[in-house]
Amino acid sequence: MIDQAQAVCVRSGPDVPLGDRIDVGAALLSPARDALEELVASLENGHGALACASGMAAIHAALQTALIDRPKRIVAAGALYGATLSLLNRILDPFGISTAFVDICDLDAVAQAIAGTKPGCVLMETISNPLLRVGAMDRIAELARNAGAALVVDNTFATPLLVRPLELGAHLVVHSATKYLAGHGDVLGGLIISDQEHYAPLRQMSRIYGPVLGPFESYLTMRGIKTFPLRMERQCQNACRVASWLGSNPAIERVNYTADPNHPDAETIRRLLPAGLYGAMISFELKNAGRDQVFAFMDRLKLIVRATSLGDVHSMVLYPAMSSHRDVAPKQRERLGIRDSLVRLSVGIEAADDIIADLAGALGR
Ligand SMILES: Cc1ncc(COP(=O)(O)O)c(C=O)c1O
Repeated sequence: MIDQAQAVCVRSGPDVPLGDRIDVGAALLSPARDALEELVASLENGHGALACASGMAAIHAALQTALIDRPKRIVAAGALYGATLSLLNRILDPFGISTAFVDICDLDAVAQAIAGTKPGCVLMETISNPLLRVGAMDRIAELARNAGAALVVDNTFATPLLVRPLELGAHLVVHSATKYLAGHGDVLGGLIISDQEHYAPLRQMSRIYGPVLGPFESYLTMRGIKTFPLRMERQCQNACRVASWLGSNPAIERVNYTADPNHPDAETIRRLLPAGLYGAMISFELKNAGRDQVFAFMDRLKLIVRATSLGDVHSMVLYPAMSSHRDVAPKQRERLGIRDSLVRLSVGIEAADDIIADLAGALGR
């Protein structure tokens, strides 16, 4: 707050006309945001960072930056956060930036899509929302680079504790800081971490277009990051226990979790994720359940919060078909595997026994 006020008042005084006192460029400066950007650039081993007003603003700005001086075509993972799909289909497409969707876990299909589309940019999530698929990012980065395209990675689910995409060849990394990095459900923010090549265009674009994070949110995000590794380690440990408990429960049809040795991307996970740190997101399907049964189950939870967010210290459940992926057409949802029986669970820092007891109580009837 103080830095914004200073920025606007540097040219105040009785003899200075009102119009000259307001320096819009200066008002965009913020030492709190600078400090956050420096911090996250070092967490992701990047050249520099830009803090944005939301995760969605960060994704939009990263894509715009990646496409400067490149073909206005994107190859994107078919399985992405719902609003990201909407950004591609409903905002960028009408402006002439087309997207070819591909199964990002099928490397041959990715290679074919890149060769056929000749995109300016490839977009993927490290761990996909909500089915927790993991594409071979290092190999996709190589394919993108060889084709002259930039790789943009949404690292929100994995966080830099698990994977640092720039070290694997990505060009730009984005986060919804709203989630694990801030961690306490009190900030809406986004982050872009850039390699050296894209940093100057990113800053230039942000000066023109102004998607930046305010100083107070920057401070809150930095405060949250102080405990981020502690929280994340605990959340990963809890998630391992909760996922294996869910896997042995007869009321559960199927569990999606990255530590599962039978996960469809197990080989990539072993190569890219550190042993013991598999993330803290789980999704699972209730047996013989539709929307009403899933809602009844969620209503019976007492500790786990129903909320359209994730990465918080509290465990949270969400119904993807009606929240994170509500704008995805039912047929496409079905194709992606986001069925009406699917629940997404963000595992928090509570005692694992308490989380399991809450799930057991809600499933028991
Ligand atoms: C993977 C992922 N990326 C981006 C976002 C968007 O972030 P925000 O809500 O901060 O705009 C979300 C939000 O849930 C998300 O899950």
